[in-house]
Formats: sequence, C-alpha cells, structure tokens
Amino acid sequence: MALLWIIISSIVLSAPGFANAGDRIVEGTVAFASVGRAHYAFDVFLLDFRPWELENASLGPHLEFRATDGVSVNYNGALVDDSQRRVIFEALDFRGEQQGDGSQGILIYVSERDGAAEVRFNLFYQGQRDRGERSLGNIESGSQESHGNRRDALEIHGDRGNSQNFIDLGKLWSSSEVEPTALYDRPSVADGRVIFVSTRKPREQSRQSWAAVYSMDIVTKKITRLTPEGVTDYSPSVSPSGKFVMVASDDGRGWGGEIEELDTDLYSFQAWDGSGRKLVVKNGGWPSWSDDSTVFFHRRAEDGWWSVYKATFSKSFTAIREERITPPGVHAFTPAASRTGKWIAVATRRAGSLYRHVEVFDLGSRKFHKLSELVAPEAHHYNPFVSPESDKIGYHRCRGKGVTPRLEHIKSPVPGISLVRVDGDFPVFSPDGESIAFIPDLDEGGIYVTRLNGSGMTKVFDKPAFGLSWDKQRKGVLYTSYGPGFVPEDTIVHIVSILNADELIAGGGGAVKWKILTKSGTKNNAFPSPSPDGKWIVFRSGRSGHKNLYIMDAIHGEEASLRRLTEGAWTDTMASWSHDGEWIAFSSDRHNPGGGSFQLYFVRPDGSQLHRVLNSSTGGRVNHPFFSPDSRSLVFTTDYAGVSADPIAVPAQFQPYGEIFMARIDGSELVRLTHNAYEDGTPSWGPVKLDSSALTGEGKKARCGFRDTRWLKPVIAQARHG
Ligand SMILES: *[C@@H]1O[C@H](CO)[C@@H](O)[C@H](O)[C@H]1NC(C)=O
Ligand SMILES: *[C@@H]1O[C@H](CO)[C@@H](O)[C@H](O)[C@H]1NC(C)=O
Ligand SMILES: *[C@@H]1O[C@H](CO)[C@@H](O)[C@H](O)[C@H]1NC(C)=O
Repeated sequence: MALLWIIISSIVLSAPGFANAGDRIVEGTVAFASVGRAHYAFDVFLLDFRPWELENASLGPHLEFRATDGVSVNYNGALVDDSQRRVIFEALDFRGEQQGDGSQGILIYVSERDGAAEVRFNLFYQGQRDRGERSLGNIESGSQESHGNRRDALEIHGDRGNSQNFIDLGKLWSSSEVEPTALYDRPSVADGRVIFVSTRKPREQSRQSWAAVYSMDIVTKKITRLTPEGVTDYSPSVSPSGKFVMVASDDGRGWGGEIEELDTDLYSFQAWDGSGRKLVVKNGGWPSWSDDSTVFFHRRAEDGWWSVYKATFSKSFTAIREERITPPGVHAFTPAASRTGKWIAVATRRAGSLYRHVEVFDLGSRKFHKLSELVAPEAHHYNPFVSPESDKIGYHRCRGKGVTPRLEHIKSPVPGISLVRVDGDFPVFSPDGESIAFIPDLDEGGIYVTRLNGSGMTKVFDKPAFGLSWDKQRKGVLYTSYGPGFVPEDTIVHIVSILNADELIAGGGGAVKWKILTKSGTKNNAFPSPSPDGKWIVFRSGRSGHKNLYIMDAIHGEEASLRRLTEGAWTDTMASWSHDGEWIAFSSDRHNPGGGSFQLYFVRPDGSQLHRVLNSSTGGRVNHPFFSPDSRSLVFTTDYAGVSADPIAVPAQFQPYGEIFMARIDGSELVRLTHNAYEDGTPSWGPVKLDSSALTGEGKKARCGFRDTRWLKPVIAQARHG
C-alpha cells in the first residue's frame, strides 16, 4: 500500500493540477454509471480469409472462431508477427504444448477483466478450430428479426464440447510499479516491444486528453514514452518493418470538446524512441500501414461520408500523395491494411443495414465485399485487424452469451476507495451503505434497490424518474424527480418521496407509498438532495423560467415551506447537500449563461458564501457533485481529461469525455478515478468499502442491447460544411 501511494504521488507531482488523496484517510465506495458498457460483452473473433474468395464471396460461418475467453470485455486485438513468438513465450514463461507447436499465432488484445483495461496475450490454434466455441447462435438482437438461415447454420455448427482453440498466455505486466490505473489500448507488437496507448500520465491543464503512445520492452519491461510531453496521441500503428509508428495526434492543441470527429493529424516517428517526429497528413485518424511508404486512414470527407484515404510517401516523408479510396454513399472507417497492397478491411455503416459490419475493400476493382455480415448479420463488429500474413481478419463483437453483472468492481487508484460500475443510472447508497438504489433503464423508468454485493433486486418505484437520494433520518425514504429527464424548463417534473422502500425490500409486498412534494403546475423540478437532519430538500426548479435552486420542507413539501436559494437567468442544478450540513454543492453555468460550460459551485444552506470551487476551462463541464461520507471531499463527473480514444471506434457514447474525479472541498488534490472511452457519470459515495470478492456477479443475460455510434446512422449523412 505504501508503495502504491508513492507511485501515485510520483505520477501526480509532475502535474500540479492533479493530485492524490493526500495523507487524509478517504474511504468508502464510489458507485457510478457508464453508458452502454454493461452490455458490450465483447470478444475478439478471427476469420480465416482467403483473398481468392473475394471472387465468389463464399465466406461462411465455419471460417470464424472466437479467440478470447468470454470473460469480461475483450477488444481491440492485433496479431503478432511470428518472429516475436520466442520473446513473448519467454517473457510470459510459457512452456506448454512444446512451445506452442501447431499453434497458428499470437493475439494481443485489451481486456477489462479487473474492471480497468489491461493488455493480454492468447496463443491460438487453427487446426482445431472446428472444436472451437461458437457463440453466435445465442445472439439476441432485441427487436430485430432473425435471419433464420444463418442462425440455423450456426446452431448446427454450434458448441462442440468445451475445448477451446486458444491458450490464455496472460498479461505481460502486472506489477503496480508499471501499471498505475489507467487506460491501456490499441496494443501491438514490433521488434521485442509492445506499443500501446495509455492515460497513465496526466496532462498539465484540464480538458486535454491524457492519451499518449508508449512502448514497453518485452524483456526488461521498461516503458518509454514515445509521445512528446504536452501532446495527445491516439491510434498508433506500427509499420511492417517495425521501424515507424504513425499516430493520430492533437499536436498539442488540446481538446476542443469534439465528440464525433477528433481534431487530429497524422504524425510518424521512430518506433524505437519517438524521434524524427513528422507531420504526414493534416486531418486524419486511425492510420494503418500496408508497407513502409503507404498508409490508409479515415477522415470525414467534405461530402459528409466517413471515408478511407490512402497516403503514399517517399522514405523521408517529403513527397506525400493523398487519395480518397472509398466512395460516398457508405460510411467506411477504422481501416486495417493488408500487406498485399491489394485490399483493406474496413468497418462500414450502410443504408439498409442496422449494423456496423466489417467488409473487405478490393483496391483493384474498387469494390466492397461483405465479410462479417455473412457470418453474424445481426451484430455490430468493431475495429478490424489483419494478420501479418494477410490470411486472417479479426474484429470484436458482442458474444451474446453469459451474464452482464449488475455491479462490477473497477480497479481503484485510491487504496481506501472501492469503485463500482452499476448497470443503471443515478446509483445512490442507503445511509448504512449496504444498499444501492438506481434506475436500470432511464427509457423504461422504475427505481430498484440492490444489496452492496449485487444480490437482490427490488422495484421500489415504477414510473419514469431520474436523480435519486436517500433520506438520512427516515429509514427507507427515497427522493426522486418523477417525469422525463433532459427536457426544457417548462416541462412538468415533480419531486416525490417514496416512503416505504424498506418495506418493499423486506418483501412485505403491498403497493409503493409515495407523495408529490412540489406544487402542481410548477415546472421542471429535479435532483432532490435532503439535509442531514431530514427536514429540508434542496432541488432545482425551472418555475421562474430559469433553473435555480430551492429548499423546501422534506416531509410536507413546498406547501409547508419553500425558499429560493439561488436566483438568476442561468442554470443552477444537480445540487448535493453535504452530510455535515455545511455546504450545498451544485453545477452551474452562471459564469457564462447558456454557454454550455458547467462548473462547480458551493453555497451555504442559508444562501451565503456562494463561490466557485473548480472549473474546467472554457466550454467544459463539472456535473453531479456528491460529498464523501466525511464531507471533506467530493466526487463528480467532468471532461477534465478530454476523450481517451477515437469515438468512432466505440459504440454510442453521448459524452465520451465523462470521467469520475474526486477532490477536496476546497478544490485541491484532484484525483482521476476512471480511465476509459465511455461516458462515466452520476457518481455517489457510500460509507462502506465494498469487498470486491463479495460481489455475487448477478445481473442480466448478455443481450448485446447497446446502440452503435448514433451519428453514424445509415441515413444519408449531411454534408458537414453544407
Ligand atoms: C468459390 O467458392 C467455392 C466453394 O466455397 C470454392 O471451392 C471455389 O474455389 C471458389 N471459387 C473461386 C473462383 O475462388
Ligand atoms: C449479499 O448480502 C446480503 C445482505 O448483506 C446477504 O444477506 C447475502 O447473503 C449476500 N449474498 C451473498 C451471495 O453473499
Ligand atoms: C476558473 O477559470 C477561470 C478562467 O480560466 C479562472 O480565471 C479562474 O481562476 C478559475 N477558477 C478556479 C476556482 O479555478
């Protein structure tokens, strides 16, 4: 533990803005929600690809096999060149099956099995692929009709015993010395090193992504940063010779709030040490080399279609020629080049298909050839990759089986704090810290309560609701906003109290007892938070035409007593009353009304001492503050760390910059708690520290019910500059 503290301190010392939790004891469990993530259930799949089959598209389900083990979320694979086998076997101490005789190759991929991302290796066998697992027959694609034939074919070919066609080689680095909690993404292997993206080091200022490219020597485990300080690099690709890396870079501009198309340029540098860094292409992302002077990349074209481009250059990158490869009429992105120079694999979104699929684009005939659609028509397929021999194409998609847990433990950077991702929104702890109330599905509505170990699921309210809190005095009393969320000032939303949650949890049966606390006709009342003595509730209301904060009687509602806490032509919202009663924290745009920037403010319950505590730079956001049990710290969600991965490579995320941070109440000692490409939000902080081993793993059957990137709808895209 002492060691970990030192590591955290050393990481943060170099960046004055960010800190650890200091010598103060902070403890408890922080619960939060992540958009879609609970339903990803990704595995990496490989497809034998014989280029000559382009001619008659005879690819079939029998050619696909699953290359990861169905545990957690496995994604962003790459295949390792055969020359790297020995060094990997030695580093991982692998001596099985005569050093992998008969194996086909090594897959490197990202897994979130400890909640946070880690880089792992699998050794796979092709000869035995017929006894490999087939999971496709189990995909449930929600409302979509099944394409009967394909599914039947899969079921016939289905699971044959439990034998797997791969061996889990494990992870290369595991000691906390080299692995602070961070994002680890897009790994590949070249020349005895793993090249990857990580958010392991903070940027100096807020609203700059921490993503940078590093390499790790497989033998010595020494990590070298290849990205210059003060710069963000995404999506590294290593050239076939292993000499160069190309990245999509912000070039030190910082992050301007982009959530669809990152403002990146392509840079190339020496894989060995990052030297010789050169701008190769303005405006591009996701590079992929086919040979040492040709790179494919994606860009949203002027006509609005995401398209793949090709850049050809001389050895010194002086003469560079750019050419659009894929035509308008189809979104084509995240290219993976084969080394044949004859074809590339791409992900597409097409009109007429509800899914993201992997296709092969023949560079000679300039034609697309369907690939994943022939195998699993009703699943989204992400981020294709091609084997060094150009005989395999890989991707990840939802495996469609198993259970997605209701509560998932996430590796935490702060020893005293457990982190738990909840499959639902607005998780809040009961005052004893042993139960969590949350809203599993904002569209369906309904509030449920589960135990801290993830067992039991009791419905305590069956109407549309958002924003939750527990009364700290009256046992089993919850407050919520009843009505639709994300609506303008003049919508009717009421604050209600749910009075008998404990009775319902205890299984007493009977009806939900609840009470409306706000006056009929008042507009957009939301985000209730009670005072510690249980007498008052602070909430925001749009009744004056603007969203400001009000305090009312917690038991009898505003008819009994109502007072306005803040006033002005701006938005004050998401208030949280500290457990010691001293402060009310809230999010507001009062510094620039309507400007879209929300920052953190504090006010005394009597309306005095209003002040700003933290702020993201212009345009930034700090939302959903929540106090620690000792009222000396708080957690919140913010865009301080920008976006950690190219958003087009991830399913739908509304605000992919949302990460959970904590700080002292004076705004000092900022600590980043989550690192991922997902929107993390609505955190709360409970007094009991969750023991991850106590989690029961209960949850829903994996149903792959997440949405693909919403701005890639297969409708005709609008021209960007039209
Ligand atoms: C077309 O597919 C068949 C059956 O899968 C295969 O045997 C044949 O070789 C393919 N034809 C060409 C021209 O490749
Ligand atoms: C989960 O927690 C509840 C209440 O704390 C306890 O009764 C139950 O036995 C636990 N379940 C498991 C499987 O540990
Ligand atoms: C917030 O940002 C503004 C503008 O960048 C700066 O002037 C101000 O000092 C900051 N306030 C705090 C509390 O950090």
